[in-house]
Amino acid sequence: MINMILLGPPGAGKGTQAELLVDRYHLPHISTGDIFRAAVKEGSPLGQKAKAFLDAGKLVPDDIVVGIVKERLNQPDCQEGFILDGFPRTIPQAEMLDSYLTEVGRQITAVINIEVDFEVLIRRLTGRRVCRNCHAVYHIANKPAKNPGICDHCGGEIYQRDDDTEETVRKRLEVYQEQTEPLIDYYRKCGKLKTFNGEEPIQTVFDQICFALEEQKG
Ligand code: AP5
Ligand code: MG
Repeated sequence: MINMILLGPPGAGKGTQAELLVDRYHLPHISTGDIFRAAVKEGSPLGQKAKAFLDAGKLVPDDIVVGIVKERLNQPDCQEGFILDGFPRTIPQAEMLDSYLTEVGRQITAVINIEVDFEVLIRRLTGRRVCRNCHAVYHIANKPAKNPGICDHCGGEIYQRDDDTEETVRKRLEVYQEQTEPLIDYYRKCGKLKTFNGEEPIQTVFDQICFALEEQKG
């Protein structure tokens, strides 16, 4: 059973690695960022609440995020494992996740921490493009789509996220340092943390993550 968290600053490659991990392990990919962006696009009550936080590069309040994740983890497709991407992002979120999982007799099996230098992250995020339909991740220089503007996987429209401007990216990195980085210690203390150099090529990072997961399975 793989119950995994992908941890790392904005642009570390959480979404990119999740795409590859889903192909290999056939687990549901739960990205809280994708859930909020879909809600904003729909204009649902959740989207209306979340929009201002996303636009400002700030975190959506813990109780809102935790409620959504618990509901998602209760779905039948998550009973054989899951990949959490971008959640938890604060110590209270991690504590609430732990107590929920304990309640239902489950636990996190691996926390994959991806590290990348901040200047590299700024270049990555300002050049990132995403499929509006399937959320596949591209980069104008490192990983361009075969046909400009069209997703290789589903033919969907490729766009630039509103929060990928340099100003908002810097704010997101600040928020990461203040509120999310403490989770590295939190999970290190539980003995679940595995750290990877996210500046290696995408495939190398993926191979190293898979190696660590296989090693753990024994
Ligand atoms: P979210 O969508 O989670 O954004 P994020 O954490 O800022 O992370 P990103 O999606 O920007 O980066 P990533 O690590 O997925 O990198 P990617 O693979 O795309 O959250 C957005 C917002 O939602 C938050 O700001 C907040 O408002 C809200 N939110 C979400 N979760 C929340 C929570 N739990 N609590 C409260 N609020 C929450 O890669 C980036 C680029 O780099 C791509 O172009 C890619 O092609 C390229 N790349 C990837 N890997 C490599 C590599 N190895 N080498 C070269 N290029 C690479
Ligand atoms: Mg992402």
